[in-house]
Amino acid sequence: MCGIVGYIGSKEAAEILLDGLRRLEYRGYDSSGLAILDASSTLHVSKAVGRLSELEAKLEAGPLHGTRGIGHTRWATHGEPSERNAHPHMDESGSLAVVHNGIIENYQELKAELQQQDCTFQSDTDTEVLPHLIAREQAQGASTLLEAVRKALSKARGAYALGVISKDDPDTIYAARLGSPLVIGVGEGEYFIASDVPAVVSRIQKVIYLKDGEVAALTPDGVKVYTLAGDEVPVTLSDVTIRAEDAEKAGFETFMLKEIHEQPRILRNLLRKHTLDGRVNLAIDGLSNDYFRKLNRVMIISCGTAYHAGMYGKLLMEHVCNIAVEVDLASEFRYRDPKVDPGTLIIPVSQSGETADTLASIRMARAWGCKVLSICNVQDSSLVRDSDAVLYTEAGPEIGVASTKAYTAQLMAFVLLTLAMGRARNEITPEVETELLEDLAQIPDAIHYVIDRKDDINQIAEKHHDGPSSLYLGRKFNYPTALEGALKNKEISYQHAEGYAAGEMKHGPIALINEYLPVICICTRTRDEVYEKMISNMKEVEARHGRLIAVATDGDTAVKAFAEDIMYVPAIRDEFSPMVNVVALQLLAYYAAQARGTDIDKPRNLAKSVTVE
Ligand code: G6P
Repeated sequence: MCGIVGYIGSKEAAEILLDGLRRLEYRGYDSSGLAILDASSTLHVSKAVGRLSELEAKLEAGPLHGTRGIGHTRWATHGEPSERNAHPHMDESGSLAVVHNGIIENYQELKAELQQQDCTFQSDTDTEVLPHLIAREQAQGASTLLEAVRKALSKARGAYALGVISKDDPDTIYAARLGSPLVIGVGEGEYFIASDVPAVVSRIQKVIYLKDGEVAALTPDGVKVYTLAGDEVPVTLSDVTIRAEDAEKAGFETFMLKEIHEQPRILRNLLRKHTLDGRVNLAIDGLSNDYFRKLNRVMIISCGTAYHAGMYGKLLMEHVCNIAVEVDLASEFRYRDPKVDPGTLIIPVSQSGETADTLASIRMARAWGCKVLSICNVQDSSLVRDSDAVLYTEAGPEIGVASTKAYTAQLMAFVLLTLAMGRARNEITPEVETELLEDLAQIPDAIHYVIDRKDDINQIAEKHHDGPSSLYLGRKFNYPTALEGALKNKEISYQHAEGYAAGEMKHGPIALINEYLPVICICTRTRDEVYEKMISNMKEVEARHGRLIAVATDGDTAVKAFAEDIMYVPAIRDEFSPMVNVVALQLLAYYAAQARGTDIDKPRNLAKSVTVE
């Protein structure tokens, strides 16, 4: 969590840093701050508690001028949100400042040592040990600031992406990373550091992906990269693969609404890229057909929304590939005793590729000899670098904190992977594969159909948004959809919502049903008995006077007979219906949140990437 940004060049740094922080605010937004070096090499710091707008107001009243600077937007871990705990943090003399994303795990030990040497701390954060450690290294004879930074970092355990600025070395800013994301943007005569590419995409031509354990020195003339031991390493310039407009709202009132609308295009592109002449054409570098044939087990690991995608992946793979598939929350997997062996394929699913529990889980699995095939959205993320193979979801930057387009892209990735695996294992014939792909091709238009009816969904949300709670029910492929719909609602509207397997309703949630409780039932028409079972569940809700809202197939008159409100979706093959049904629930949550007046793109207490345990 937390976002960091840095600038060195010839322009005023403050506005550039604020713009970067605005784009990183999804990573944390309880306080923010800047440190800027002015023309006479004096370091000025400004911090504010609350949203970035508080810092902007402060800087308007007291502008900071200078062409070098670093900035931070915080999601509190160590120390409450307060100005004292906001970054940048400084050494005792006020000559150097540090912004940090990550956690210094041995900070208490380091802090105690520094305090024994009479060092005074201003904050409760783990980060503050870093400026003091760097200053100590300088005092103890480090010949350059680079050496002091390297030596200080060699003492720190944990994870960091950081930016350092000092009046002792005014023509350089330093950046370093270990386990937390950090990129260096290369512009014309100006250089940037940022937690992700979208923060600076409109200003850069190339990007340098700093590796774990590297320290970079950025000057107006270029970038040099070193190991923690001090050896210079060659710099690799990579192309910027996202477009500047991907990081803008493009006329939508929120990123979330924009991202909901992007789903048909993203899924269509994924399909185009990975299919050819009615067959899946998915080359997964690093894993052969022979590997998939011999595989005896799959273990899917993820968190949050990505976990719901994993639940869907399990159902689909078991259905098509005749293989045992388990799915687990990364935060559980890493502390239990899972029975995995080299015959198990590990599939982590992650939008960011930086979720701490997911990363820890796959490192364990790799140590046990398993291969790792990631489903991930972010290029060069930590997850990607730790995987044997990657299937990119190619959804573009997802900026709304509540995940939407990354989720449906994860579902589509699972479909493509399942078909490729099914074929490698001789579980599906070419005819069936072609038929499935024909049905799959209808998904983008079906999502459009749902989005085109957003005004109807808005009306339903307006009617039901004000209760304290709601219940979401689904079965089989749409059980994960129910969980995801409830999660969306909780995340952005702050209304308690519970997702449940509809068949389990009689084992508890039925006690909650009364004339006030909205019960959202995913009851699209299916070829198997699940539809009939859902109808029975809905009748049970109706009999207890619950307020029934259905996601139903267009033209379904049976549901109309007893649901109070219906969100219609087109007829879609059961296996693929979650990609469409969930869009209705994303919109329902969206409009409920709007009616409740919440900050939809930045819901309270949440952060987009959970990079700490
Ligand atoms: C946070 C985000 C969710 C996301 C989850 C997992 O909770 O708010 O939207 O699903 O982390 O993140 P990942 O980046 O691993 O998909």
